[in-house]
Amino acid sequence: MSLISSRPTTTTLRALAPYRLPVELPRHAVRWHTQGPADHPLIRHLRAAPYPRQGPRATLVALGDTWRPELAGLIAGAVDTARHDGRRVTLVHTGAGGGSLLRGLAAEHQVEASCLQLLSTGTAALRSATTLLASPPTTDDLLIDDTATVGTTGWRPVPLPPPARLHRDDLVLVTGGLGGLGLAVAAGIASAGAVPVLVDRRGPEDLPPHLTRRLGLLRHAAPDTRIIAVDLGCPERTRRLLGGLAPSSVVHCAGQVAGGTGRTLDTDTVTRLVTAKVDTLHNTVAAIDPRRLTGVIAFGSVTAYGAHPGLGGYALANELLRRAMARLATAGPARHWCTVEWSLWSGAGMARQVARTAARRLGMVPVPVRRGVAATVDLVGALRSPEATSLPGALLVAGVRAGAQGSWARRPEGLPGIDAELVVPPGADLDAAVTAVSEAAAPWLRSPPTGRPAGRVGLGSEALLVRASVHGDRVECTVAPAADPTAPPIRHYRFSAR
Ligand SMILES: NC(=O)c1ccc[n+]([C@@H]2O[C@H](COP(=O)([O-])OP(=O)(O)OC[C@H]3O[C@@H](n4cnc5c(N)ncnc54)[C@H](OP(=O)(O)O)[C@@H]3O)[C@@H](O)[C@H]2O)c1
Repeated sequence: MSLISSRPTTTTLRALAPYRLPVELPRHAVRWHTQGPADHPLIRHLRAAPYPRQGPRATLVALGDTWRPELAGLIAGAVDTARHDGRRVTLVHTGAGGGSLLRGLAAEHQVEASCLQLLSTGTAALRSATTLLASPPTTDDLLIDDTATVGTTGWRPVPLPPPARLHRDDLVLVTGGLGGLGLAVAAGIASAGAVPVLVDRRGPEDLPPHLTRRLGLLRHAAPDTRIIAVDLGCPERTRRLLGGLAPSSVVHCAGQVAGGTGRTLDTDTVTRLVTAKVDTLHNTVAAIDPRRLTGVIAFGSVTAYGAHPGLGGYALANELLRRAMARLATAGPARHWCTVEWSLWSGAGMARQVARTAARRLGMVPVPVRRGVAATVDLVGALRSPEATSLPGALLVAGVRAGAQGSWARRPEGLPGIDAELVVPPGADLDAAVTAVSEAAAPWLRSPPTGRPAGRVGLGSEALLVRASVHGDRVECTVAPAADPTAPPIRHYRFSAR
């Protein structure tokens, strides 16, 4: 019996891996006003230099390398003040993160904001950061290294691993296992031959009817399935209930969402969202017996990138999850750690009520449960193999469907590296369409775009697909026949933020 809906779908998954993309950005003198410790390297550097007479005014929020709950209030306060006095806000940190929260809050309050991560606190990096305190906003942090090279996150397509079979003695611990995606993933794990252990704060008796039914099907098909009820936010109880378990893999699905359009979150809610994703990960990893552990997959979200008004707390939880996983990859007990930063899923999980209607209206392509579960199971299998070193530590995964670009196909989550697309009917103004699509992909683009078309080719009387994708501070825009979007582009444009 299949435990996952077998409804046919033409949607496939597209996986992208992040890489550091060098960018050139305009540099300015900035009249700064700082919030943060006086001994922060950048604050010390700024105070030792002459104060600029001219330039935009920025509130600089300077953070170190560790996130603390009170920092959410500091960032929210800086945005609030900036809204009243017309400043912009620039967050600079050495690893703590927080850019996703800043971008979300700034978008809510129409404040200009950007975020820099110092990979070095050497003089060259500090000098470079000083001239970038008013850089144009990007979808992710700007990274400045010890050679003063500035980069942001670029995206390259990567293949997902091939179908995997798991082993009967594989114990796969699924946190948030009684949630919508956790239960679906557990069913996929059981179908692939391994034993799922579902760990969740709720017990089976707390489930809504549709999940009770799914759990019943899972238990019927895989009677070995284990369920452990524990609040993974509590280290002692987690240790007591998970201690002694020796899973070969962990799929970390525990999490919470709060917020939405027009809602400003209080800092307690932001902390609760971070705890539900990040503390639960640390407590789980610390509690289990690591001797058989080969891989950990964490369910993150694309909201960690870009600006998401009303969802800044959720975005922050996902950004901090990725940062926590990257740290564990260098010091944690498993061989492989992979954060999968999903776009919206349809048919299950926390977004199931909104996914279909929102997706249809906005022309986005959500991840079908069946495909998302299969990809997760294949990743679990891949992380067990010695070749797993070729898998990136973070992957962005979204749905794509040929022909879904019939109208606006801009993804509302602002998927970095994924196109904004528009079909332009014959005879329409192509230049206007290219401008609109590029601006949809990169709202920070100066209007009108300053790039020039490369390789002009005569256009016929056919409908055209205009597709734009963001690469750091550049937008690549292509024009292809709508009837065959995979054909070589007939026009190619490149725009930049400068
Ligand atoms: N659904 C999507 O479209 C989507 C897209 C991208 C990423 N994700 C991520 O995928 C993961 C699973 O999402 P979902 O849609 O399945 O959400 P869900 O249905 O709300 O499931 C999450 C589960 O985690 C549990 N949980 C929260 N805090 C916990 C804690 N301290 N200890 C133990 N369990 C805890 C929740 O219990 P309570 O209900 O009691 O809080 C819930 O059962 C989440 O991390 C989410 O951010 C989802």
